[in-house]
Amino acid sequence: MCGIVGYVGSKPAQSVLVNGLARLEYRGYDSAGIAIMGDDGIGVTRTAGRIADLVSVINSEQGSYAGSVGIGHTRWATHGAPVTKNAHPHQDCSATVAVVHNGIIENYIQLRDELIAQGHTFTSDTDTEVLAHMVERMGDQPLELVVRNIMEKAEGALAIGVVRASDPELVVAARRGSPLVIGLGEDENFLASDIPAILEHTRRIAIVGDDNVVSLRSSGIAITDLAGNPVEPIVREIEWDLESAERGGYDDFMLKEIFEQPTALRDTLAGRIDEHHRIHLPELDLTAREARAIDKVFVVACGTSYHAGLMAKYAIERWTRLPVEIDIASEFRYRDPVLDDRTMVIGMSQSGETADTLAALEYAQAQGAYVVATTNVVDSSMARVADAVLYTRAGPEIGVASTKTFVCQLVLMQLLGLYLGQIRGALDGATIELMAKSVRALPEQVEQLLEHADDIMAMARKYKDVKDVFFLGRGASFPIALEGALKLKEIAYVRAEGYPAGEMKHGPIALIEKGVLVIGVATSSHLHAKTLSNMEEVKARSATLLMVLTEGDIDGQRMADDIAWVPHAPELIAPVTAVIPLQLFAYAISKARGLDVDKPRNLAKTVTVE
Ligand code: F6R
Repeated sequence: MCGIVGYVGSKPAQSVLVNGLARLEYRGYDSAGIAIMGDDGIGVTRTAGRIADLVSVINSEQGSYAGSVGIGHTRWATHGAPVTKNAHPHQDCSATVAVVHNGIIENYIQLRDELIAQGHTFTSDTDTEVLAHMVERMGDQPLELVVRNIMEKAEGALAIGVVRASDPELVVAARRGSPLVIGLGEDENFLASDIPAILEHTRRIAIVGDDNVVSLRSSGIAITDLAGNPVEPIVREIEWDLESAERGGYDDFMLKEIFEQPTALRDTLAGRIDEHHRIHLPELDLTAREARAIDKVFVVACGTSYHAGLMAKYAIERWTRLPVEIDIASEFRYRDPVLDDRTMVIGMSQSGETADTLAALEYAQAQGAYVVATTNVVDSSMARVADAVLYTRAGPEIGVASTKTFVCQLVLMQLLGLYLGQIRGALDGATIELMAKSVRALPEQVEQLLEHADDIMAMARKYKDVKDVFFLGRGASFPIALEGALKLKEIAYVRAEGYPAGEMKHGPIALIEKGVLVIGVATSSHLHAKTLSNMEEVKARSATLLMVLTEGDIDGQRMADDIAWVPHAPELIAPVTAVIPLQLFAYAISKARGLDVDKPRNLAKTVTVE
């Protein structure tokens, strides 16, 4: 989730772009850069680090360019480490083109190979650079037409801004999936991935539709579709203040991030399931023989990531028949686990910096295990330690409570289970196809579920004074029960316990009485009838029962006092949608209690102490 800014007008572009990027720094902050159209061609300044580092390079004079047209970018790495050579803007061989890009080009390897074969030389590890060479390849053709052509060839969700030395007064932009808006000014126009970047200059915003191409000149803008037909812009007057604009108009980053889950899932899935429903995780760099040699898997993680790790246990065991152990990272290395060179150890971490998980991976590596890190932060400490890295591509998560990174961890573990099943020959094609299709459907299912977010939150607010909550689930719903309880504890400060539903009768059921709320996660599964029996047990003891149910579940509906419906999915895929009502539940209760959801007391986003 990178940030894009563009400007055409009469002001010094450098300061407009840098100020805009500073407003977007919350979107990504591992490197930044700008390209300014000058009398001697395009001047590019870029660096690893934050916007302050970019400003230092600009102030060092070699980095300062005069001009009133340009593009800028702040990066959150997805392809290639966060180093200067991978910072945007990217250029072609002759340095007459500069491109900024947000999103993922799924077929970039194929495009890059094609360009290399045609004689182009690449200087970065990014997917973006292919775009600059594609523009160069099309010579002097009108830039709008060139960009339309690129959008047809590049697969995936992306937003781009392009300048070319031969068009010194022009910025061309386009989008598919990734956000992009145009700011309309007097004799000046702006481009941005997000409104806050340009709000100090204009409140008149034109929304760019999917597969639309925009040319920006100081005199005006023109939008076309990919066939070149003119598109009438939809112009809106923005009333948000700057602070709420940074949160995309949402009250809090957590809510914004809950609503970003469809995009985060799409980005995480990009390029990992092909049209024949085969799973691709080339990052693992495993031959079939090496994959078959693995005889045990460990998952180590903390907090929310641990809950995603539990899900990995269910998926990997079911689909590969490999035994999987799951450990809280702070316990792992002190219990002397049995590891050797046939063991795969998966460290799961949003930040890639959690001290306990990092130490666990270092320990596993010292024992000779094959160490895989799953993280959201490119080049984080865990990514550097591991033998292989699987990235979730959720973009920066700012709310302390993990939401979008959790669902991305879940799908990545589903993909890993399917991939290992596929490469080890443990899974038949029909199962892989069914699961792959179901995983692919998730972003849209989550989108549809979020359309009912207000109803779920209204229902949740009825329970704002609740004191004791049990979250119960069985099988793959159990990690979701744990996660629901953790969310409620951390942001609403409510005593909540996640428990395997079948285990209640061995003790905790003694706590059930009138006034206790039980939240049963009972989506379709082979344990569904048993889960419902466990729900009967708590209901018989006067608990109030809120249930997360698969649409159409009449038996569940009969016993529940309140229901959050989720769409149909196979049992190991369903946890991704089942957690969403629980995120919204915790959020609504926290807000109803007047708490700070983004910065709950006593908690830090990244825990780098043991
Ligand atoms: C809860 C939460 C924490 C983290 C935990 C591990 O919402 O965010 O429980 O999951 O501190 O952090 P990472 O995933 O960065 O290793």
